[in-house]
Order: sequence, then C-alpha cells, then structure tokens
Amino acid sequence: MATKVTAKPFIKWAGGKTQLLEQLANYYPPQLQEGKIKTYIEPFLGSGAVFLHIAQQYPLEQVYLFDVNRDLILTYLVIQQRPDDLLSILDQYQKQFHCTPPEKRRQLFLSIRQAFNSNRSGIDYSVANSQHRGIVRAAQFIFLNKTCYNGLFRLNSKGEFNVPYGRYSNPKICDPSNIYAVAAVLQQAQIYYGTYSDCWELVTADTFVYFDPPYRPLSATANFTTYTGVEFTDRHQLELAHFFRELDREKKAKLMLSNSDPQDDFFAQAFGGYNIYRVLASRAVNSNSAKRGKITELVITNYNPIVD
Ligand SMILES: C[S@@+](CC[C@H](N)C(=O)[O-])C[C@H]1O[C@@H](n2cnc3c(N)ncnc32)[C@H](O)[C@@H]1O
Repeated sequence: MATKVTAKPFIKWAGGKTQLLEQLANYYPPQLQEGKIKTYIEPFLGSGAVFLHIAQQYPLEQVYLFDVNRDLILTYLVIQQRPDDLLSILDQYQKQFHCTPPEKRRQLFLSIRQAFNSNRSGIDYSVANSQHRGIVRAAQFIFLNKTCYNGLFRLNSKGEFNVPYGRYSNPKICDPSNIYAVAAVLQQAQIYYGTYSDCWELVTADTFVYFDPPYRPLSATANFTTYTGVEFTDRHQLELAHFFRELDREKKAKLMLSNSDPQDDFFAQAFGGYNIYRVLASRAVNSNSAKRGKITELVITNYNPIVD
C-alpha cells in the first residue's frame, strides 16, 4: 500500500517556519488538541509551514489563508485548482534546466525572470488562476524560487523580481508528490490575497489565528525583508499589536504571534499583559551566512499553552 506523503512547503521563503515547527507546536492552544478549535486562520501565509503542519494534524472545519504577495497567492490557488497543468509546465522547466550545461543555466534563469517580469502587466489576478497565462506565471514563480539566490523574493521599485541566480547544482523544480499532497491539504482552505486585518469578520471564539508577520529587524542597520516592495515598519508592528488586542477583546479567539527577538522592550510594551516566550531558532534565510547561527525568536499568546 502506498504511504501517504506529508505535504511540506513547496517553496523556500524568508522567515519560513519549517525549522521551528516542533518548538512552535508546544505553544499551540490546548483546545486545538482537544478538538475544540474549528477554524484556523493564517493571515501572513508565506510558505505555509505552520498551516500545513496544523491542517494535517488536527481536524478543522474551516481554514482561511491570507498574504499580500499576489504571485504567492496566485500560486497557491493554481496548486489548489490546477495541479496537473502546473506540474506539466514545471516538468518542462525542470527538463530544460537539467539539459542545459551548468555554465548556461544562469542565462536560462535570466530569460524566465525576464518573462516573469514582462508578463505581469497582462495578468488579471482575479481570474488568473484559471487561465493558462496565470498557470504559467505560477510555474515561473516556483522555478525562480528554486533557482534564485537563497529562495528570496524581492521586488525593485518598478515591481520587478530582481533576485540573482542561485547556482544550485540539482534543484528540484518539479516535485509532483509534494504538489499533489499540498493540493490535497488546500482543498479545505479559502485562500485570499489581502492584508491581515481582512480576516476580522471570519474570526470566532473557536478560531485559532497564527500571525507570522515580517520580522522586526534585529538592529537599526539590518535590512528589512520586503516581500512585496513595501516595508513592514515599527508602525506596522504596533498596528498589528493593536489588531491582536482587539481580536482578543472582541472575538475571544485563541491568538499566537511570532516575531524576531530584537532584545529590547519593543514587543514587551506592544504586547504587555500577554504571554511572551523565547524559542531558539536557526534562521534558514539570511543573506549573511556568518549570521546563520542560533538566535531566539518570540512567541506571544493570549492563552496558556501546554508547555506553560
Ligand atoms: C515571515 S513571512 C511568513 C512566513 C510563514 N510563516 C512561513 O512559514 O513561510 C511574512 C509574510 O507576510 C506577508 N505580508 C507582509 N505584509 C502583510 C500584510 N500586511 N498582510 C498580510 N500578509 C503580509 C509577506 O508577503 C510574507 O509572506
């Protein structure tokens, strides 16, 4: 009998939580294990490591996913609805890449990057997931993620993807078993292009919301990670903390948020009155390899988790 494939993130993503999953699971609300949580919401979806983990572990009735990266959301919708068409394009890209001599692969990467940047103007995102050009764009998005430097997604001021070639010797561009596994998990999800506060109406008392916003930079000189060309500044972090408080007060939902640990009192002030924990993390995406060591990250909850 074939063993069931566990769905994993289909892309590498800055701030991806795969390495932290085991630790984060200790901070999930006890009501999730008790089967009392019916709805799961992830408003900063990224590569979806936590969503995939939770959705394959616990019985949920509703799942709502949000992100402001249009191409990321398009790609999730294409995986959910058109996995076969997506895989046939990814298979062509993979064959093309592997048949190209290593010294010419950068050229191939640049031509697909160029195509991705020039076809954006012809995309109507409201229907693109069911159109051939949208499916091609989702395949280009995955190809670029697998072959660019560190799996970064960065746009310049003109909205063009400008991450350089990554020089991987054998990237897995087409991974049918994982794409089908992700597609199966996504069948229960509603996927939205939107900002985190768009989830407000969907939150009820038996909802678990996990927030994983862009990290607050560890120092004033550190680079911001911009996923969309727009920075998530301290003002945005404070607005999010306010939203967290409002959801807690008005909806009585279970809320968990993770962020970097800048070792100052910014988050202690913003989330005063809530539980703040520190977990050890090894960041997967850091442009400076010397800084890829163990650092702590914050986990903030409005409930007492099992580990408490
Ligand atoms: C730290 S990443 C999330 C990583 C995710 N947990 C994972 O495992 O890959 C933050 C995500 O938030 C998205 N984002 C940034 N600003 C946002 C906003 N205002 N509303 C919703 N999503 C936003 C970014 O596009 C990015 O994908």
